[in-house]
Amino acid sequence: MPKQDAQMQRKVEHLFLAEKFFTDESFADFDGVRLLHDALPELRLQDIDLSTNFLGSKMALPIYFNAITGGSNQSAHFNKELSQLAHTLSIPVSSGSMGVYLRLPAETKTSFTTLRENNPDGFVIANVSAKANAAQAQEAIDLLQANALQIHLNAIQELAMPEGDQAFLWLDNIKNIVSNVSVPVIVKEVGFGISQKNLTQLYKAGVRNVDVSGSGGTDFAQIESARNQELDLTYLNQFSLSTVESLLESLPFQNKMTIFASGGIITPMDVIKAIRLGASAVGMSGLVLHHLQKSSLSETEAFFNEFTKQLRLIMAAIGAKSIAEIKKAPIVFDEDLINYMNQRNIK
Ligand code: FNR
Repeated sequence: MPKQDAQMQRKVEHLFLAEKFFTDESFADFDGVRLLHDALPELRLQDIDLSTNFLGSKMALPIYFNAITGGSNQSAHFNKELSQLAHTLSIPVSSGSMGVYLRLPAETKTSFTTLRENNPDGFVIANVSAKANAAQAQEAIDLLQANALQIHLNAIQELAMPEGDQAFLWLDNIKNIVSNVSVPVIVKEVGFGISQKNLTQLYKAGVRNVDVSGSGGTDFAQIESARNQELDLTYLNQFSLSTVESLLESLPFQNKMTIFASGGIITPMDVIKAIRLGASAVGMSGLVLHHLQKSSLSETEAFFNEFTKQLRLIMAAIGAKSIAEIKKAPIVFDEDLINYMNQRNIK
């Protein structure tokens, strides 16, 4: 099989392995965070405003469908459904990595453009690897008429892949993309989290938007190990920072960067806690992909309508009428997170 075909095949395997390993238990450390209720909320449920400013655009909800797929017939099917759902819910939707489009445009184009066709006025995000150059990044943006670009950082995933990259010289490239493309850039991890050191490096490179995408949900060390006939490199996930730990790492940066959270977002409570810890919006991949794989589009839509109702209930319980007010809710950390903050010098 030619290399390109192997890469398309890998994307298909990711979809099915993500579902195989999906669990509706999150390990992102949200259990270590308690929100305290407000016995005098002084609000009506109907007055709660879930609208969210997403990189300057008003979205209906503080959630988005994060990067998943593209490049194959199966990807085209999921991207079509994801964009239809994003359109209905009025939330942003991301493409999976468009590297395969940059290599094989004719064969893979429509698996990506469906994201825009089914969501003509929506917020669509293109996605490239940190190896792409600025011209390629702009090509990906132009194909989708994208409103933003994600650049993914996936060193652990590459290391766990039999055919993975062996050089990780990305910062100059990221700097170049940020200063040359036409839309805002979000640098994201793929489920292993981001440290203060990395946030400092990214800030110096001109990056102002980061999705910490921590561990606790989809685990690419596990997924790539399942594809690797010879070696089990799942242990590489032990280096990861959970989504909550990554958000704590981002605290000193939140006044100068826009921080997004993803990784192990399963419940409406996870969303509200991530926002309380500083996320401007909260992304999910594994959860929505799971629902689309196990049930119909309309059942998935019903799931997210219920999810939205519960976001509202939780906001009422903590006395928050808007997304901004969530950030004022009283919060208590468990001992493990206090210990983490002490050892990492996070105030
Ligand atoms: C991903 N993710 C991902 N991220 C990215 O930037 N480019 C990509 O091409 C992909 N591909 C991909 C495929 C599949 C099947 C899944 C489930 C995920 C990573 C994703 O955007 C996110 O960072 C992690 O999955 C963590 O979030 P969840 O899945 O725990 O909500």
